[in-house]
Amino acid sequence: MANLLLGVTGSVAAIRTPELYEQLRQAGHAVKVVATQASLYFFDPVALDPARSERNPAVVLLDADEWPGRAEGRRWQRDDPVPHIELRRWADLLLIAPLDANTLAKLANGLSDNCLTCVWRAWDLARPVVLAPAMNTLMWEHPLTIRHWHQLAAMIPKGIPAPDLDVDAVITWINRQATKLRVVPPISKRLACGDIGVGAMASLDEIVAAVRCALDQ
Ligand SMILES: Cc1cc2nc3c(=O)[nH]c(=O)nc-3n(C[C@H](O)[C@H](O)[C@H](O)COP(=O)(O)O)c2cc1C
Repeated sequence: MANLLLGVTGSVAAIRTPELYEQLRQAGHAVKVVATQASLYFFDPVALDPARSERNPAVVLLDADEWPGRAEGRRWQRDDPVPHIELRRWADLLLIAPLDANTLAKLANGLSDNCLTCVWRAWDLARPVVLAPAMNTLMWEHPLTIRHWHQLAAMIPKGIPAPDLDVDAVITWINRQATKLRVVPPISKRLACGDIGVGAMASLDEIVAAVRCALDQ
């Protein structure tokens, strides 16, 4: 049993968050969720965390929970928690599923303007991370997406992949070379937007299997 931090971003695949959360718990793990503002368009945190409040986000942590009382003019007090650091300390593994194009770009470039990207930026690189991207086919095939995977691959201390590799080959390279970073590639099907092609988040079984694998390594 491990402490899993599930990051959720603003892809339609976030509608599967309650199901994924349940599958991870059924696998015996303690699970906390850190959700971006956009992801809340696709699932209701109360479904996972009925007792949640700003002062007690037991399971699902939102950006607002990092700044309690800010809107009312409250200021951070010495000994107040720093939630993204506490989450990082708590978690044995970070899973981001779905990982949308926007957050992929932030991970690759080190932007940390919300709780999830702060966790990533403060992450202990000795602990595993699993990424399950999901986006429209043309977003997936866009040269920027390949550039972002190359940037993430360059973090792995085992050389860098050949610059002419396509997106599938870079991900294969990452999964072969990295001991602590695992990517569960998207699959091809009719997407929620009606387009047919690669971009749908991998099956929940495949994601849970990747988590198991990453914990065993
Ligand atoms: C209905 C809808 C569906 C979306 N689906 C996706 C998606 O599957 N993948 C993606 O990369 N962006 C998708 N987006 C765009 C993201 O939600 C948007 O880029 C957002 O700013 C992401 O913020 P976040 O990365 O902080 O969660 C969608 C937006 C809407 C309105």
